[in-house]
Amino acid sequence: MQAALLHEFGQLDTLSWEQSKDPVARRDEIVVEVITAEVNFPDLLVIEGKYQFKPPLPFSPGKGAVGRVCGIGSDVVEFAMGDIVIANVEYGAFAEKLAAPAAHCVKVPDGIPFDKAVAMGLVYHTAWLALKERAQLARDESVLVLGASGGVGLATIELAKALGAGKVIAAIRGDRGADIVKAAGADEIVDLAAANLKDHLREQIAGLTEGKGVDIVVDPLGGDATSAALRALAWCGRLIVVGFASGDLPSFHGGYLLVKNISVLGLQSSDYRNRRPEMARAAQCAIFDFYQQGIIDPPIGATLPLANFAHALSMVANGEIRGRIILEASRNDRS
Ligand SMILES: NC(=O)c1ccc[n+]([C@@H]2O[C@H](COP(=O)([O-])OP(=O)(O)OC[C@H]3O[C@@H](n4cnc5c(N)ncnc54)[C@H](OP(=O)(O)O)[C@@H]3O)[C@@H](O)[C@H]2O)c1
Repeated sequence: MQAALLHEFGQLDTLSWEQSKDPVARRDEIVVEVITAEVNFPDLLVIEGKYQFKPPLPFSPGKGAVGRVCGIGSDVVEFAMGDIVIANVEYGAFAEKLAAPAAHCVKVPDGIPFDKAVAMGLVYHTAWLALKERAQLARDESVLVLGASGGVGLATIELAKALGAGKVIAAIRGDRGADIVKAAGADEIVDLAAANLKDHLREQIAGLTEGKGVDIVVDPLGGDATSAALRALAWCGRLIVVGFASGDLPSFHGGYLLVKNISVLGLQSSDYRNRRPEMARAAQCAIFDFYQQGIIDPPIGATLPLANFAHALSMVANGEIRGRIILEASRNDRS
């Protein structure tokens, strides 16, 4: 098979598209012939060697693929040859085939296009876990989504509405991405580019929540936005630390936590996949179900051939595309 291979951690040009051995399924794995793969911000961190988990070199990056089962390990009973599945993996999706633990794969229901199916992988899991598991979102609670125009942000807006949140407020820079956050279902927009962000964000949020503050902040940004959002929380509010797309780690003023009974909770979505695979699979099924009911619809920003993974990754690095960036293998029919 052909695969994107990384031989040393570094920049995108350290990846090449080359011949590689076909993977073989271990007892608890299936081999998937890739039809579509999705490109994510954390792929860049993995390639640079800055991600919390470093795969053994050489390896193919890529955290999610949809494809056809073409190999089955001896212990696997729930999949048959030819099934169409989504594989949510730590790495390996930027290749014509990958071996994935069966526990991390879910059948894709008939009727879901492959690009939409693969787009409902990592960022939707992350949003689901942030809202349901970490924040314990209750019906009608308000949610402030930082980095709202990005992958995690858009998925969080959609799922917050789907899961019964009240007001969902999208935080973006100026009007960058205003159209797409509205299309995802945001009720209100606040500006992260304002001068004196700490005071400005609190005032904006107070104005939108009758002075109460927001119940939940989902934060894939870090840095100054986190400190400002902490001050915009309501009594017993929860802030979920998801990522640091701003490039800066957040810091937390203990006084705010104490005074308003605020909780700050971290999220590492792959841990849930490893430690609670059944829950992660049930979440994937529920996300597909929301799509089939017409409640969510992941926006696709660009589709490129699988071999053009480097260009796709550079699009993520430059933040030039809104919506998911999808890689397509040349054979992509269901038959
Ligand atoms: N914890 C987990 O399990 C998990 C899972 C997935 C992702 N993540 C992390 O979550 C973060 C976001 O991922 P993503 O897929 O959403 O990335 P993305 O699609 O590239 O989106 C990044 C977002 O951050 C915004 N942004 C970047 N720098 C900013 C700044 N200085 N101020 C304000 N906004 C800024 C961008 O806004 P513009 O559109 O204005 O540029 C964009 O909306 C990453 O750190 C990623 O590693 C964590």
